[in-house]
Amino acid sequence: MSKQQPMDSIIIFDTTLRDGEQAPGGAMTIPEKVEIAHHLQRLGVDVIEAGFPISSPAQFEAVRRIVSEVHGPTICALARAKPDDIDAAGKALEGGAKTRIHTFIATSDIHLNAKFADERYGKTLSDKRQVVKKMAVDAVLRAKAFTPDVEFSAEDAGRTETAYLCEVVQAVIDAGATTINLPDTTGYCIPDEYGRLIREVMDGCTFSESVIFSTHCHDDLGLAVANSLSGVQAGARQVECTINGIGERAGNAALEEIAMALVVRADHFNVKTQINPSFLTDTSKLVSTFSGFVVQHNKAIVGKNAFSHEAGIHQDGVLKSRETYEIMRAEDVGQDSQAIRLGRHSGRHGLFNRIAQLGVKITDANKDQIYNDFVALADRKKEINDTDLLNLVHEHKQVKTQPHYKLESFHCSVGTGQEPKATVVIRDMRKDEVIEKSATGDGPIDALFRAIDHAVNEGHDLVNYSIRSVTEGADAFGEVSILIGLGGPLFAGKASSTDVIHASAEAYMNALNSLAAHRAEEESIQFVNSGIMQAFGSGASE
Ligand code: KIV
Ligand code: ZN
Repeated sequence: MSKQQPMDSIIIFDTTLRDGEQAPGGAMTIPEKVEIAHHLQRLGVDVIEAGFPISSPAQFEAVRRIVSEVHGPTICALARAKPDDIDAAGKALEGGAKTRIHTFIATSDIHLNAKFADERYGKTLSDKRQVVKKMAVDAVLRAKAFTPDVEFSAEDAGRTETAYLCEVVQAVIDAGATTINLPDTTGYCIPDEYGRLIREVMDGCTFSESVIFSTHCHDDLGLAVANSLSGVQAGARQVECTINGIGERAGNAALEEIAMALVVRADHFNVKTQINPSFLTDTSKLVSTFSGFVVQHNKAIVGKNAFSHEAGIHQDGVLKSRETYEIMRAEDVGQDSQAIRLGRHSGRHGLFNRIAQLGVKITDANKDQIYNDFVALADRKKEINDTDLLNLVHEHKQVKTQPHYKLESFHCSVGTGQEPKATVVIRDMRKDEVIEKSATGDGPIDALFRAIDHAVNEGHDLVNYSIRSVTEGADAFGEVSILIGLGGPLFAGKASSTDVIHASAEAYMNALNSLAAHRAEEESIQFVNSGIMQAFGSGASE
């Protein structure tokens, strides 16, 4: 298609709550489904397939809740081509402003022979085909009594003989189906084949402009997204997909990948959707949490690593111009824009750029040593985070500076039914004063940090606290990393011990000492500057 043609709209039909939830182990509760539906509405999907009401009371209730609470998208319910299924779907959708019944029946010979083996569906394959076609038509007619918006799916269309598929599709269009979905139920098709199927069925039927053809692709060969896009190119104007591509077996086409392919390659597809990509990552995280399916790090669009560069050559290129290795921006899909990830493959440019971003000044003379220490650390640790980096840089500075505060002792008490309490004794090395303070908190570490704050009185925010086990077992060595700051540069502290409360206290003290040293340095610069200004001032008046 040429760029000059007006863009067609693609209807995004999300089936996370129906086909997605059918994934083994992916069941979600009703409140979780309702919350996801709200997020799908915010994301801009056109149709939400909320469930399969006849299949269980919980499915029925989920559809009922979503149709009454989520406004904007069309809410759809699934039904086999059976009267009871259609009635249950119609009942669950009752009262909804925009509703759709989605009815389906299998059309491939493989399915007909297996699922309709009983002679009441006909003796020969040809008889069975006619019975199934009639069941499809009856289902559409029955659904029409509940809502004008009726979708028909020819299950296993991907392996159905095209001539028969056209016959069924024409019959359901004549019965009033407004959306015709051609599922590649088993993920068997390859892209040009699937596109051809859509094209041939569209060419083989007569229908008005209001009838929409739809794709529904499974990912058994990892081709669900490619097949869906091929269907769009062939003329489909609805795509059925799920967040994170969850679904039966290998899953469904991933909504986020479809949406971004249509944005990034609008020059190629010349179609648009109502999806607001900035909500993609949040929605993906929510679905991952509720379904229990972790999103793989390298997952396109929403994976943790989808916009991260670790290789030195890539980091160098991206820092010079993002276009070198990025076809879209992390921020556009709601991901963290921090693209540079530091690890053993990173180079000097990426490292020093990140240190500068953290507000830390280092001298050229220090750079080689810092880089060498970084490389040595990266050999031991997979990913170097900001806390590691600040520790590394501050280690160089701390050689020169004496700590301002020293933790002489601490005591924490915790127990059932007792508010956690901590007492610390801290020596202020500059004033040679010993301060004892106590505090309570949400837990022993919170109480401890509060007590230290009372004693030290260096205003700051706790930006990050993390703990990782360095060895194994109940007596494992715990390494605590702390990051503090107040708007400006950040200060890190690290300590390890088999006693994680002790390690936490020491790490916190290290971070506070770095902050105090920085503040003292700033004060002395200000002091020198004001002296210079005074000298100038008095000189000028003489
Ligand atoms: O994959 C499939 O065929 C389906 C139908 C119910 C649409 O999910
Ligand atoms: Zn499916």
